[in-house]
Amino acid sequence: ARVAVVGGGQNCEHEVSLASAAAVADALETAGYAVVRLTIGRDGSWRQGDGCAVDLADAIHVLRTCDVAVPVLHGPRGEDGTLAALCDLAGVPYVGSGVLAGALAMDKWATKLLAADLGIATAPGVLLTPSTAPGHRWTRPVVVKPVAAGSSQGVALVRDPGDLAAALDAAFAFDRRVLVEDVVIGREIDLAVLGRPDGSRTVAPALEIVADGLFDYELKYGGAADFRVPAPLADADRKALEDAAVAMFDALGCAGVARVDFFLTADGPVLNEVNTMPGFTEQSQVPKMFAAAGVSYAELLDLLVRDVLS
Ligand code: DAL
Ligand code: MG
Repeated sequence: ARVAVVGGGQNCEHEVSLASAAAVADALETAGYAVVRLTIGRDGSWRQGDGCAVDLADAIHVLRTCDVAVPVLHGPRGEDGTLAALCDLAGVPYVGSGVLAGALAMDKWATKLLAADLGIATAPGVLLTPSTAPGHRWTRPVVVKPVAAGSSQGVALVRDPGDLAAALDAAFAFDRRVLVEDVVIGREIDLAVLGRPDGSRTVAPALEIVADGLFDYELKYGGAADFRVPAPLADADRKALEDAAVAMFDALGCAGVARVDFFLTADGPVLNEVNTMPGFTEQSQVPKMFAAAGVSYAELLDLLVRDVLS
């Protein structure tokens, strides 16, 4: 089959997506697919293969020559449902979540509201805008984050009230809406949920991020990330995490694979966020979790593509 792998994107996770997309494209090519590589530049321009610039109409035409698209875009204008919308309008089947799931999961505030309705805990937090932020008073250590971003860009842990204003400014550089959340004390545990067309859901062995402090951009991509998989978990904790991960996957309406990130506290799981197109190099969390279940990187990608073709 002919597969279009789309990477890059117009946001701060551009480089992260390039790495994910290159790894995905290489693996699918090795597995025997005819792979067409499409890259979206930071400026929104599209390129095919090694350089040839194509306008949007041509990019849509190229997508239409493929049996399936694999959007490997992280962050706004990609993972947030926009590429899914383009594929929907162009009539191109694609791997992963559709418009609504991508948009809801990209919005950490919407995700929080949905989780609350399901009885899944999230960090207590407030939503600030440039007009409400100046009135916000610091009372305890908080995490400041843009509502829609990724890879911890624009995220800061604020322990000192004097640092709040700068942290808010940094977060507002990424989004007009900013979340200020209480710091959650707990182990950082990621779950990967795979949804199949028959409605079945598989949860891969949980992964623990062993980090001292924030699992920030430098730690994520500087090569120093320390993962423990399967994470050692008591049965009751594992069940609570898996149930919450599947509940979020279904409530958002995710498809393909999503990574659901939690803090495991003394009171149980606290949801951090859902990634509908999580990091996808072979070293990233999701491939590592499936590898622990005996599903190789190539097998996982082949499965995701075949499920769309079927
Ligand atoms: N947002 C990054 C790519 C991740 O979730 O892995
Ligand atoms: Mg994310």
